[in-house]
Amino acid sequence: MYRTHHCNEIRKEHIGEVVTLSGWVNSTRDHGGVIFIDLRDREGLTQAVFRPEESQEAAKLSHTLRHEDVLRIEGRVADRLEGTANDKLETGDVEVVVQKVDVISRSEVLPFQLDKELSNEDLRLKHRYLDLRRPRMARNLQMRHRVAKATRDFLDEQGYLEIETPVLSKSTPEGARDFLVPSRLNPGKFYALPQAPQQYKQLLQVAGVDKYFQIARCFRDEDLRADRQPEFTQVDIEASFVEQDQILALVEGLLGRCFKEALGRDIPASFDRLTYREAMDRYGSDKPERRFGMELIDLTEELKECEFRVFSGAVSKGGAVKAINAKGFADISTGQIDKLTKLAQEAGAKGLAYIQARDVDRSTWRSPFVKRMTDAEIEALRTKLEIEPGDLILFAADQWAEACDVLGRIRLAVGELRGLLAGNTDLDFLWVTDFPLLGYNEEEDKWNAVHHPFTRPKAEDMEKLEAGDFANVRAEAYDVVLNGNEIGGGSIRIHEQDLQQKMFTALGVSEEEQAAMFDHILTAFSFGAPPHGGLALGFDRLVMLICGEESIREVIAFPKNNKGVDLMSDSPAGVDFKQLRELYVRSVAKEKKPGGDE
Ligand code: AMO
Ligand code: AMP
Repeated sequence: MYRTHHCNEIRKEHIGEVVTLSGWVNSTRDHGGVIFIDLRDREGLTQAVFRPEESQEAAKLSHTLRHEDVLRIEGRVADRLEGTANDKLETGDVEVVVQKVDVISRSEVLPFQLDKELSNEDLRLKHRYLDLRRPRMARNLQMRHRVAKATRDFLDEQGYLEIETPVLSKSTPEGARDFLVPSRLNPGKFYALPQAPQQYKQLLQVAGVDKYFQIARCFRDEDLRADRQPEFTQVDIEASFVEQDQILALVEGLLGRCFKEALGRDIPASFDRLTYREAMDRYGSDKPERRFGMELIDLTEELKECEFRVFSGAVSKGGAVKAINAKGFADISTGQIDKLTKLAQEAGAKGLAYIQARDVDRSTWRSPFVKRMTDAEIEALRTKLEIEPGDLILFAADQWAEACDVLGRIRLAVGELRGLLAGNTDLDFLWVTDFPLLGYNEEEDKWNAVHHPFTRPKAEDMEKLEAGDFANVRAEAYDVVLNGNEIGGGSIRIHEQDLQQKMFTALGVSEEEQAAMFDHILTAFSFGAPPHGGLALGFDRLVMLICGEESIREVIAFPKNNKGVDLMSDSPAGVDFKQLRELYVRSVAKEKKPGGDE
């Protein structure tokens, strides 16, 4: 037998018992020739002491032990000597006096220490199986399990069935590039890995499943960031005969259960709602961080005739002027202003106008343009922005959507510079609703679905869709946001064949393409489709926030790095010519000259 207890189990009441433990040598200490080790497993640590008077043999062997050797020890539980208890350990009152030790497996010196934070993430990922031995990572994996279990329990209680859908599937237009898999049995044809189980879950509603969920793996070939992986996990949900409010209530209950089970925290039974328009207007983001204020103030009306052309020019082109008051930040350095300006420019702005309002009198204000403002304009700024001595005002002037977006990013950057969220552990849940159905893409000169093509237009906007007034059609779509992170999104769907065809046509999908790509779902809708809707939670993001981590890589056992590479197994990797030939695939990668044409 390898163990009678795990390494975080033994307490004072076990004193006198003989126990067997197995695990890794976390640390060793030599106290005047007597070796103490902390033995570690997933659950925690237990101190073992090798006293020669207990066992000569074990004591002799203990001098050869190194970090991360794997042992089995047998010994008697003893009280620690007066004053040597360790209150940082749950097992800190006791120790195991070793009578017998087996060295099961020896460890070489590790490439990095497990008890120190390591900034070199590549090294961590290369030896992920070691990195996962750290208590923090072990806790994250356990937390992930707990959240998955809470999800399954809750949805099961609500009558939802967990149903798997294919991974080898057909391209679903969720907006990213597909990963493709060549089919050996069907030369020249490819499966697509699902970007989401969207069409399958809708087809399950046509099938009468009524309430579906799946903890589903999704694949998207897109640029990677801290909150994006090429393969990630969704809690995917769909139900029939439901309206928006029922889906929102279900998800509120589900998140409530997850936070309770994982952290013991109560969250509000229902979340605030903001329309997309209001979220953009007030926070410059469709996933607002509301744990600090600094809301965007509209000055379009007040500055429409301003002599400073950046403002009046934007308004005359139908745009808007928006500003934020970064309270008490008038002493911002030139370097910091330059950094913020660069950020605004990266987001597409021409610049970032500012006023350093040093004192009450406008003559003390530092700004490239304040001289050109009338007293009435200055008064309007003072009132609407509640300017006090020491404030910094930052402006964006552009089309409404662009001005809001730029200033929204600046707002977050200022929040970060000012440390406005330091130590904040509040949970701010929020629904963003009434998204636009379609968004115009200038590069492609076409309209795209903001959510996806299966999303239902709002009944009140149906006429606008018919009339081709695409910019003003809102969708029956909603996102759930936690502390400025989009943790989920969904919609009520189209269930009528003709409306779905109209939607595809609006998206520029020709009748032939509709027949080739979407025949299954269009046909399904002709055989009696129930009204339905749902949502998908980004499971990795949810677990990341529950664990207090800043990257989803910290809550995924074997993630890819930002280039999509698994550094541990060195994947993706080349394959042999024969394998490709069997798949009727030829690689042109080597024939491509770096930087040149194919
Ligand atoms: P959506 O595309 O909004 O909706 O995805 C749902 C949620 O999944 C998370 N997410 C990601 N997480 C990690 N890495 C990624 N690359 C990634 N992409 C998305 C986000 C997001 O909110 N089929 C629809 C859902 C529906 O309509 O029911 C869908 O996939 O947290
Ligand atoms: P200029 O008169 O062009 O030198 O610009 C004066 C200030 O306005 C500078 O601080 C610019 O960064 C800023 N600015 C320029 N264009 C915009 C814009 N569209 N929105 C906000 N600020 C701008």
